Amino acid sequence: MKKVLVTGGLGFIGSEAVICLIENGYEPIIIDNLYNAKLAVLDRIEEITHVRPKFYQVDCTKYEETKAVFEENDIDSVIHFAGYKAVGESTQKPIEYYENNLGSALTVLKIMKEKDVKNFIFSSSATVYGVPERVPLYETDPVGNATNPYGETKVMIERILEDVSKANPSMNICLLRYFNPIGAHASGLLGEDPNGLPNNLMPYVSQVAIGKLPFLRVFGDDYKTVDGTGVRDYIHVVDLAEGHVAALNHLATNPGLVVYNLGTGKGTSVLELVHAFEEANGIKIHYQIMPRRPGDIDENFANVDKAFNELGWKAKLTITDACRDSYNFQKKNPNGIE
Ligand code: WQD
Repeated sequence: MKKVLVTGGLGFIGSEAVICLIENGYEPIIIDNLYNAKLAVLDRIEEITHVRPKFYQVDCTKYEETKAVFEENDIDSVIHFAGYKAVGESTQKPIEYYENNLGSALTVLKIMKEKDVKNFIFSSSATVYGVPERVPLYETDPVGNATNPYGETKVMIERILEDVSKANPSMNICLLRYFNPIGAHASGLLGEDPNGLPNNLMPYVSQVAIGKLPFLRVFGDDYKTVDGTGVRDYIHVVDLAEGHVAALNHLATNPGLVVYNLGTGKGTSVLELVHAFEEANGIKIHYQIMPRRPGDIDENFANVDKAFNELGWKAKLTITDACRDSYNFQKKNPNGIE
């Protein structure tokens, strides 16, 4: 069974990817420093899959500890999720973001080279496109001038990977540019579990739905969009996880460096998502229109033809599925995973 090292494998997306890997006959090996994840997620993965993956509490900026994991396991591929990912926090703590996100990627890549591990999937983000000149976004669109240090780390790591690919043509490297991941595992055992007040829309709506927060603040209704509120490409986290398995299968064909948008190809506004949530769950979500949030853009959604044509992958689950799954997870975990 091919062993896949999953860094950040106890996180929101990482844990879903671990489940998909198991369901598709791979053996995931998880490293996570638990900075933004809980050990209880490992129990949940076991409860869902009846498999308890090997887990190492390791910070992958630490060379020796990370190398020991490679020495103990015959790793075939790496999916690199580990990294800080809060946009707002990154503007307050740029040094920590550059040190951690670049450091973890460089450490893993250095060890992969020493151990001759050839397959690497990078958890990138639509933020690398910066402020889009038009939508939908294509993989060939210009990348750079991200609007925050978090996004800049993604831009820089993509550039590092392009250089690594040029210097090591036998490596297979896949950049997956996520749009807006939402939803939860259908069991309600795993889902988006942010520390403190949620930054992202869906977990905030879900906490309003269970009465944990009084109302949703809608950041601006004067954008140039269908109803004035921000439009994004919301992709169910389970579809996103499946995209990683499709990418891994594709790396076996030795494609070199490849890049894919992982989205639905459809834009949804804040109010459209709120109404979909109310419809899916039969509840009212109270909200108030507030001033715009600094750094937000009007509209952002993906062209997803490339992933379909080359990976045979496309998103199948709907906004309604994600609203239902997110609410189910939040009801079962009112205080998060514990
Ligand atoms: C979505 C829309 C807000 C919260 C970020 C990162 C991206 C990825 C996903 C990591 C916007 C509006 C939000 C709220 C609101 N993260 N909103 N009230 O900013 O598109 O993307 O998270 O990979 O890299 O940039 O996601 O969910 O924060 O916002 O009105 O309480 O919802 O204005 O229009 P965003 P988001």
